[in-house]
Amino acid sequence: MIKIGMAYYPEHWDSSLWEEDAARMAKLGVHVVRLAEFAWSRMEPQEGRFDFGWLDDAIGVIARHGMRVILCTPTNSAPVWLYTQHPETVQWGRNGRPTDIGIRGHRCIQSPVFRRYAERITGEMAKRYAGRPEIYAWQLDNELESNHCTCPSCRAAFRRWLEEKYGTVEALNRAWGNEVWSGEFTDWEQIQPLLAPDCLPDWHNPAFMLDYERFGAWCTADFVRSQRAVIRSVDPDAVVTTNSCFCANLPDFHQEFAQLDVAAYDNYPPMDLPEDPETLYSNGFALDFIRGFKGKNFWILEQLGGAGGCWSPMGVTPEPGMIEGYALQAVAHGADLVSFFRWRSSCSGAEQLGHGVLDHDNRDNRRLKEIENFCRRLEKLPDLDKTDIHSDVAILYGADQEFALKNQRQSRNFAYWKQLKLFQDACMGLGVNVDVAAQDAPLEGYRVVVVPTHYVTDPDLTARLESFAAAGGTVVLTNRSGVKDEHNNCIFGEPLPTVFRKLCGCRVEEYDAVGEKRVHIARDNGDSFAVTGWCDVLEPEGAQVWARYTEKFYAGSAAVTRNPFGAGCAYYVGTVGERALYRALMGQILRERGVPLVDGLPAGVEVTTRTGEGGSYRFIFNNTLQEKSFVLEGETVLLRPMEMKIRTGEGEWV
Ligand code: GAL
Repeated sequence: MIKIGMAYYPEHWDSSLWEEDAARMAKLGVHVVRLAEFAWSRMEPQEGRFDFGWLDDAIGVIARHGMRVILCTPTNSAPVWLYTQHPETVQWGRNGRPTDIGIRGHRCIQSPVFRRYAERITGEMAKRYAGRPEIYAWQLDNELESNHCTCPSCRAAFRRWLEEKYGTVEALNRAWGNEVWSGEFTDWEQIQPLLAPDCLPDWHNPAFMLDYERFGAWCTADFVRSQRAVIRSVDPDAVVTTNSCFCANLPDFHQEFAQLDVAAYDNYPPMDLPEDPETLYSNGFALDFIRGFKGKNFWILEQLGGAGGCWSPMGVTPEPGMIEGYALQAVAHGADLVSFFRWRSSCSGAEQLGHGVLDHDNRDNRRLKEIENFCRRLEKLPDLDKTDIHSDVAILYGADQEFALKNQRQSRNFAYWKQLKLFQDACMGLGVNVDVAAQDAPLEGYRVVVVPTHYVTDPDLTARLESFAAAGGTVVLTNRSGVKDEHNNCIFGEPLPTVFRKLCGCRVEEYDAVGEKRVHIARDNGDSFAVTGWCDVLEPEGAQVWARYTEKFYAGSAAVTRNPFGAGCAYYVGTVGERALYRALMGQILRERGVPLVDGLPAGVEVTTRTGEGGSYRFIFNNTLQEKSFVLEGETVLLRPMEMKIRTGEGEWV
């Protein structure tokens, strides 16, 4: 059975409300209640004085109503006494100064003193609750970002990390190319994290920036590892995760979740749907990406429950169908647990305007009704959790690419995520499952592997892609691949795409960072597509031309190529196009590779399939605010705005 959850903050409400709240949740169909996140000051009101009485009571009420608990560690918001007694636990900003305490998230996860206190509170919670039947799982902290703290202990830790990596300052100078602009260090102590806003990231040495990002991501993964170890030392079977989100300082999610038992995500899809048909707004991409963290089904620890507004002003209220439709969309992409945020909107604190399921008036409402519908639908599909997503197509993501491209922008209107999304969008719109997998994920079992902008190269991946293609697979590479070595310095003396030139059977003769300008490409069959952001002017070296530019001085030159390679082939997409380009290209590739696809899906209709021991289920989601109708295998399907239809392998509609 797919599990349904609810975030609840008993410490925000008078305890006389707990019983009624739990009864309402249980009646709704909730299985697990997520508790104690941010409640450190209630669990340890003074240094070393612990008070779990209130939490025992809250857990007791929940258990009496037949529900279990996802227990959260509170390390995201340390109590004020800790910050004042130990100012070294406070996070420092990119301006090189301590942040103001009083709101959440202002702890330094790398500070040894903070680590000691964090391990102690988590340890006390574990001693009391780990292994108890009421506990379903554990959530660590909240929405962890990569560590960009600049406090003295983080600076020292960064230097130690570099020393371990490079051994000597001279080796570091060589790797980073510090002869440029007299950047050579003579002592480890001279190395500082890069402080902003003194200058834009583009002014810093990209090699330095990449190692700084790698260090920050390592800190986060290390914090997660140490916190999980505390819980696991008490209960070796505990299921431990954390709730990820796409924040400003992205961690290396694959490294982080390698330390954890299940991937989890906070799912807040858009409520204000864009009118521009080129906007890639579907959350399907995020969900496929999260599934890739561990290459298996995942959990949603916060699912949209109401209008956002915690960082006011408020956003629009969810349209009818959105709460239920978006929750089902998560399931359609592999969620086995969906926990809504939050039971009731808060009457105090910063998040008063961030809406939970219930409003401040505490009445049953339209959003609650939609969650009830969601629960009733899932009850009709009790074996759905015994299925997962099998994909013939993988899109490879690399944290190094993310970090390097974020700090050294290639062109206006060029974004790494956009390229990843364009390919995912095309597959989803063709009714084909797609994994967004880690760059080092095994390629066996896929028929098509798409590698958008493999910018910071990894010789191992080149070899793996060549073997994959030689054995009959199709590889798709794009512009700005093969540009950098592992230190983020440009590869010398070899035309782009350097390490992929043989595989792609073409070279980049020159390139044009066209930014927002629109250029066109066309195929011999007359199809034409607008492109933007970047244009590689390609010279085939054995590859066939799939599309050519029709404008600028390179009109007639190749823009997209296809190179036969062993029993398979490699495509190279030298530019960034509109959605239709990817639909056409992926449509051709999937047909070539015999991947079954759904023709004629209207824009915004997404089809995914879950299969396994528990049966086969096709999810058909109208992710728009208009009615849609189309013919699926001879049957007309009519979808209301935001409606999800589910068809079982037996042909029943649920
Ligand atoms: C999430 C966060 C929650 C809450 C929510 C509001 O990012 O984890 O604690 O703030 O947003 O939408």
